[in-house]
Amino acid sequence: MADGGYGRRAALLRLAAAAAVAGAAPLLLPRAAAAAGAEGGVVPSAEVKAAIDKALEKLITKAKAPVTLRLVYHDAGTFSKAAGDGGLNASIRFELDRPENFGLKRGWRLIEEASSMLKGTPAEGLVSYADLIAWAGARAVAVTGGPRIGPLTVGRADAAAADPPGRMVSEKSDAAALIRNFGEKGFDVRELVALSGAHTIGGKGFGDPVTFDNAYYTALLAKPWLEPNNPMADHVGLPSDHALPEDPRCLQIIQEYASDGGAFARDFAAAYKRLAATGVTWREA
Ligand code: HEM
Repeated sequence: MADGGYGRRAALLRLAAAAAVAGAAPLLLPRAAAAAGAEGGVVPSAEVKAAIDKALEKLITKAKAPVTLRLVYHDAGTFSKAAGDGGLNASIRFELDRPENFGLKRGWRLIEEASSMLKGTPAEGLVSYADLIAWAGARAVAVTGGPRIGPLTVGRADAAAADPPGRMVSEKSDAAALIRNFGEKGFDVRELVALSGAHTIGGKGFGDPVTFDNAYYTALLAKPWLEPNNPMADHVGLPSDHALPEDPRCLQIIQEYASDGGAFARDFAAAYKRLAATGVTWREA
């Protein structure tokens, strides 16, 4: 879809009509995301949803799940509550050469591909790149056995330029810096710990790389990186992961998620929905 062709009134009216037919919430008026992840937009009609799901089911395989989920965080993570800008707006496509986004070109290409697969379907013109990023991340969680996240809405506006740099937290951060950085985006300590559980998939050594479970938290308690004779010691987790159990507030939540995978799944799904609405400008009716 061409960026310039977005936000057309006719398309939005079609979207509203489709949502009304589907018995979904009426089209909401635009609102800046006052709370970091205040959800707006509309739940799409069954036909639009089917078209999105079809594209994402083809593209977001288990192997592609980690890069896809990471893309969501790196797009949304530029949000600043204080500055009132950044967020999940597909600006990641202008930021792929930033060092913190190394490896994410692969993830962005999937979104472009999904967008072109919507051409000629009932979803054409109604689903932004930012919507696809949000939906693709949810698909990544589901395909690796994590919680079903939904219902997600559509109607996120795409940014026309890069978000300000310097907003992603360093992987060398201690817990205080992580808590501060997530707080600046409107996420509390519990949400920081839940969202960090995304590292259960991917290459950082927390259990099976394509199984979304609570292995991240059992590993954070076991701390294999401290075992001198463990050949995997250097390969499990980032310094920022290692820092979490050193903070008493985080530790309590890690213990809870390590012993109750269901609590992690529920909290992750709720925090993900807020991440998927972070800083979003919902397109106007
Ligand atoms: C808390 C602060 C975070 C930091 C400092 C951080 C940093 C990183 C880094 C440096 C990597 C690359 C590791 C490597 O392969 O060398 C990574 C991977 C990953 N991150 Fe994060 N991350 C954070 C939070 C998150 C959040 C909130 C999510 C999603 C909700 C996320 C999702 C992922 C995923 C899925 C991977 C694996 C990607 C792959 O293997 O292709 N991260 N993260």
